[in-house]
Amino acid sequence: MLFRSVDTMYWADDALYLLDQRLLPNEVSYLKCGSAEEISAGIQNMVVRGAPAIGVAAAYGVTRAVRDSCNEAGVNWDLVSKKISILRASRPTAVNLMWAIDRMMSLVDQFRFSPTHLVVDAFLREAQAIESEDISINQRIGDHGATLCRDDMHILTYCNAGALATAGYGTALGVIRSAFRDFKNISVYACETRPYLQGARLTAWELMEDQIPVTLMADNMVGYAMDQGLIDMVVVGTDRVAANGDVANKIGTYTVATMAKRHNVPFYVACPVSTIDFSTASGDLIPIEQRAPDELTGYQDKQWAPSRVRVLNPSFDVTPSELVTGLITEYGIVPSTSDGVQHIRSLLSGELG
Ligand code: MRU
Repeated sequence: MLFRSVDTMYWADDALYLLDQRLLPNEVSYLKCGSAEEISAGIQNMVVRGAPAIGVAAAYGVTRAVRDSCNEAGVNWDLVSKKISILRASRPTAVNLMWAIDRMMSLVDQFRFSPTHLVVDAFLREAQAIESEDISINQRIGDHGATLCRDDMHILTYCNAGALATAGYGTALGVIRSAFRDFKNISVYACETRPYLQGARLTAWELMEDQIPVTLMADNMVGYAMDQGLIDMVVVGTDRVAANGDVANKIGTYTVATMAKRHNVPFYVACPVSTIDFSTASGDLIPIEQRAPDELTGYQDKQWAPSRVRVLNPSFDVTPSELVTGLITEYGIVPSTSDGVQHIRSLLSGELG
């Protein structure tokens, strides 16, 4: 079965074109970003969002930073570093941003003294590799996650961890896509995800485009839905998993996980290993982005709260590992514990060694 995923971004004529997710589902249009600074602004302003997609965009941002730092003498690496620090500061929570930048910058030693056209080519090829690997990783996550599913299952998801949040296929929605391919009558409950409405605007749209049955509900209906036995399983994405298995994801995920525990509903996190931060011991050390008040008081030109009201707007929360049934990675499903994370780490060192 073919899934029709719109391109989250594409590279053409030395620029990155980002699907402007702020306009979905009403308008499909692409914003041209012709510099690392413009790509950084696209990430900061939510033109592109979702941890893996942010990582891929940043990888192209590094490519552009290198290209724009070339002169007759070669690449001005000090200028590259300045541009990279702007990219790195775009958003703090999704570790894929730092992961992708670090992977791109690991090319520097190899190409430091090469002719500029070879350097730019190498950086572009690495960004393209990060993009295409992301799609195959998501398909592997999807196929592992589908082993947890069965006919007639009702799956709840939160925020958007779909094709739109990645280079394609999605992590949590990748699990749902693979389950829909393998089983009959799979259907999805999508929480609208206040305040930025990634569930209502993006997940509902993306699933409807693929003709996967989806029912939208407000975030405060999760308790009711679980109490009524409407939900068989939860699967969400993540922005960063700490070494002890704590999971940072969109604000409100912790509430969903708590409800799932109370109602004995399995709560899974779809997680490419690039989202595991082995160097952060526990969730309380994960930086939580605070976003602008106007994302809560209204949307675009609509305002529904009094202007100047004091606002609390953390963009993410941390779900403690004990509420997570398992991490669905491209290497298989592991417990969301220090041992589970350590197991992934040893697989990685085995692969690299
Ligand atoms: O603020 P956003 O829209 O970037 O937040 C996105 C999420 O929280 C996703 O669940 C997460 O990045 C995983 S995407 C595969």
